[in-house]
Amino acid sequence: MITTLQNDLLIRAALSQQTERPPVWMMRQAGRFMPEYWAIKNKYSFLEMCKTPEIAADVTMLPVDLLGIDAAILFSDILVTAEAMGGDLSFEQGVGPRFANPVRSFADADKLATDCLPKLEYVADAIKVIQQRLNGSIPLIGFAGAPFTILSYLVEGASSKDFKLTKLMLNNEPKLAHTILQKIADVTVEYLNMQIAAGVNAVQLFDSWALALSWNDYKEFAHYYNNQIISRLNRKDVPVISFCKGSSVFAPIMAEAKPDVISVDWNADLKNIKQSLSAGIAVQGNLDPFVLYADKKVIKDKIHQLFERMRGENGFIFNLGHGIMPDIPFDHVKYAIEVVKEFRY
Ligand code: CP3
Repeated sequence: MITTLQNDLLIRAALSQQTERPPVWMMRQAGRFMPEYWAIKNKYSFLEMCKTPEIAADVTMLPVDLLGIDAAILFSDILVTAEAMGGDLSFEQGVGPRFANPVRSFADADKLATDCLPKLEYVADAIKVIQQRLNGSIPLIGFAGAPFTILSYLVEGASSKDFKLTKLMLNNEPKLAHTILQKIADVTVEYLNMQIAAGVNAVQLFDSWALALSWNDYKEFAHYYNNQIISRLNRKDVPVISFCKGSSVFAPIMAEAKPDVISVDWNADLKNIKQSLSAGIAVQGNLDPFVLYADKKVIKDKIHQLFERMRGENGFIFNLGHGIMPDIPFDHVKYAIEVVKEFRY
C-alpha cells in the first residue's frame, strides 16, 4: 500500500521516518465550515450522507480538492458503531447526536448486539469508492470511536458537559460499565479490521471525552480497552493514531498501548510530549483550533513557532488539538494549510 501512494508524507511521519516538511490534515476537515459541505447537507440528512457510499465519498473528497491536504479522512461518524449495536441514533440540527434508548442497566446492555459488521458494510463500500477516487494520490484515514467515548453517548443519550451519568455508572456500577465497554471494544476491533481490509491506509481511534476521567479511571475504563483494540488490529503497514482530549496528561498511558502516533491536544508542549515517549511513537497536533479564527499573520506565526519547536524531530504530523469549529472562516483553514505546505526544514 505505502509504495503505491504518490504522497506518502503522512505514512512516513506516522512511522517516525524523516519527512521534508510535516504532513498536514485537520480533524473535521470535511465539515460545516465549508460552503460546499452545506450544498450537500441541505439535500440529505447527516446519516443518509454517511450511509450512501457515493455521497460519503463526495464529502470525503471536498478537502482533498479544495484544501490540498496530505491525507483524506473517511466521512462518517464515531457513533455509527453504537447505532449498529442497537442505539436509536439521530442527529438534529443545533442539538447534535441523540440516542432515544439510552443504555443504563444490565437489561439494556444485554440488548446490545455485537454481530454488527453486516450493518456497517456501507462503510467498507464507501472506502472502496473513495480509494478509487483518490487513485493512490494521498492516504485515506479510517477511524472509530474509542469505547469510553462511545459509552458516554450511550449512557447520557446525548452530548454532555460533565458526563455525570456515565461517571456515576463507573463509580456505582463498574461491572455494568465493563460489560458495555467490552461489547463496544469487540465491535470496534471487527469494524476497524473491516476498514483495513477495505483499503484504508491508516486508522485513528477517537477517545474525545477521556478528558473527563481521573488517572485511575482512564487506566481502568479507557486505556484497558484501547490497548485491547490496538493489539487486536491487523495492522500490517497501517499506522494507528490514538487521539484523546486529555492526551497532555494521559500520553504516558496511551503509549503503553503502542500506537504508532499519539494525537496531542493543545494544552501540552508538543516537543516535551514527543521527547517523553519511547522512540518510534510519533506525535500529531497540536495547534489550538481557536488560532484559526485569528488574523492570518497570527496563524502563520503560531504554525512557524510550532515547527521551530519541532525542528529535528522525526515523527510529527501537523494537525489541530481538536476539530475545526463550524464557524471558522474557510479561507483561514486554507491559508493554514498553505503555510504548512510551503514550509521546509
Ligand atoms: O473529521 C472529519 O472530517 C471526518 C468525519 C467525522 C465526523 N465526525 C463528521 C461529523 C469524524 C472523524 C467525526 C468524529 C466524531 N463524531 C467525534 C470524535 C472527534 C471529536 O470531535 O472529538 C465525535 C465526538 C463525534 C460525535 C458527533 N458527531 C457530534 C458531537 C456531532 C455534532 C456536531 C457538533 O460538533 O456539535 C456529530 C455530527 C457530525 N459528525 C457532523 C460532522 C460533519 C456535523 C453534522 C451536521 O452537518 O450537522
